[in-house]
Amino acid sequence: MPEVSRKISCHIRSAAPYTPVLNFMPSLSHHSLGFPEHFTWGVATAAPQIEGAAFEDGKGESTWDRFSRQPGCVHNGDTLDTACDHYHRYEEDIALMASLGVKNYRLSLAWPRIIPGEDGVVNRKGLDFYHRLFDCMDRHGITPWVTMYHWDTPQWLEEIGGWRNRRTAEEFGRYAEVIVREFTGRVKHWITINEIRCFTMFAYGTVLEKSPAIRETPQVLNQTIHHALVAHGLGVRAVREHGGAGALVGLTDNAEYYVPVEETEEHIAATRKAFAFENDRILGAVYHGRYTETFLNACGADRPVVTEGDFDLIGLPTDFLGLNIYSGTFVRATADGGYQTLPFPPGYPATTLTGWLKTLPQAIYWGTRLAHEVYGAKVVYITENGYGTIEEPDARGEIIDLHRRDYLRQYLLELRRAIGDGVPVKGYFCWSFMDNFEWQDGYSIRFGIVYTDYKTLRRTPKLSARWYSTVMRENRVV
Ligand code: GCO
Repeated sequence: MPEVSRKISCHIRSAAPYTPVLNFMPSLSHHSLGFPEHFTWGVATAAPQIEGAAFEDGKGESTWDRFSRQPGCVHNGDTLDTACDHYHRYEEDIALMASLGVKNYRLSLAWPRIIPGEDGVVNRKGLDFYHRLFDCMDRHGITPWVTMYHWDTPQWLEEIGGWRNRRTAEEFGRYAEVIVREFTGRVKHWITINEIRCFTMFAYGTVLEKSPAIRETPQVLNQTIHHALVAHGLGVRAVREHGGAGALVGLTDNAEYYVPVEETEEHIAATRKAFAFENDRILGAVYHGRYTETFLNACGADRPVVTEGDFDLIGLPTDFLGLNIYSGTFVRATADGGYQTLPFPPGYPATTLTGWLKTLPQAIYWGTRLAHEVYGAKVVYITENGYGTIEEPDARGEIIDLHRRDYLRQYLLELRRAIGDGVPVKGYFCWSFMDNFEWQDGYSIRFGIVYTDYKTLRRTPKLSARWYSTVMRENRVV
């Protein structure tokens, strides 16, 4: 288990230019624990992490199917073959969601289930599975929020370069059009791509833990990110052209989140600079419709090759920004007007055993606030926030996950603070509905509010599920 931070990085940088986009609204109320009327509460999962049926009904091989079979890549040699067997147990899962009062469910579609191979033939059985799933959700009054791509690239594409190759973005564009046309009217909330950093920087970059885990040069790495941005743009275009009336679309990013070491003017200004500098490559590209000079200068000769028209796609206006927020990095101002990121002191609270997930609730306050201030995001959803650890039922068969409940509670209080301060956060999705395949950690790390027994596949709501059910029902932190 790496002790180093996985979703965050520590650097010392000098000042980057900052232009505020919106004026910040003053605090309205810090006292109420209530959320605004019509706030969207939900839970989240992703196809490769829960579905199983990895080779059933015509599904093609994904990069993670392959990667998990390579010795040493995934903890314990765990594969996605069965996962939570959601493919066969979706009715039970949706009924359980409904019994907890879930009204919104963020899920992803498996690209290789829908277009398995190089011949581009659409697999009817793959589409039919999602129709059955949406029918079931309809019956239970649960609204789908659908991620088009949550890292399960068809393996044949990886073999011709994966995200290094522009063809992957083009094939994604075609897939996006197929699914949006198919589900027009059924799906009104689309998320193009989940966490570009994870399948580029952590797959071809310096941290090599996600499939295919092959180190590339900085230029190639920047190119993979650029291709993912183009794919995002093609996803937005598919929704605009074929999504039907009222369809909404946005990107989900795991931005770099920074928290001022103390909430003073100078440290807040330094934090804003850190946020803008580190997020320009993805959020800057989407919101400014170009790469900033600061970003290009930082890349030097390693800048991505941009084809004419790319930014017409990348910069297409979106309807919301999804942010996955788990942790962050403390920042302080330096004497020369720059900023410095700080390592966590030894013993700083983290979710047990997974050292990377430090408990930093203020990350959700500053992450949403700065996305709004720096990039002008007008509607923000927390598309993931959650707590991962190793846990087993107690002697009575219960899972009393007080650590998860208290972690989530602290984050929600900070989210409420952000909303009170005028940050336009419209919804929150807890990661995850149930324990599932946690990428390189296999099934060892559990993020669910529902416990999955991987031997019997029995689901048991944890204490946190009962607590979250009350939060959703009462629309306030309890
Ligand atoms: C991510 C992914 C999820 C993870 C979750 C816990 O953020 O890495 O979107 O698939 O399972 O975040 O690590």
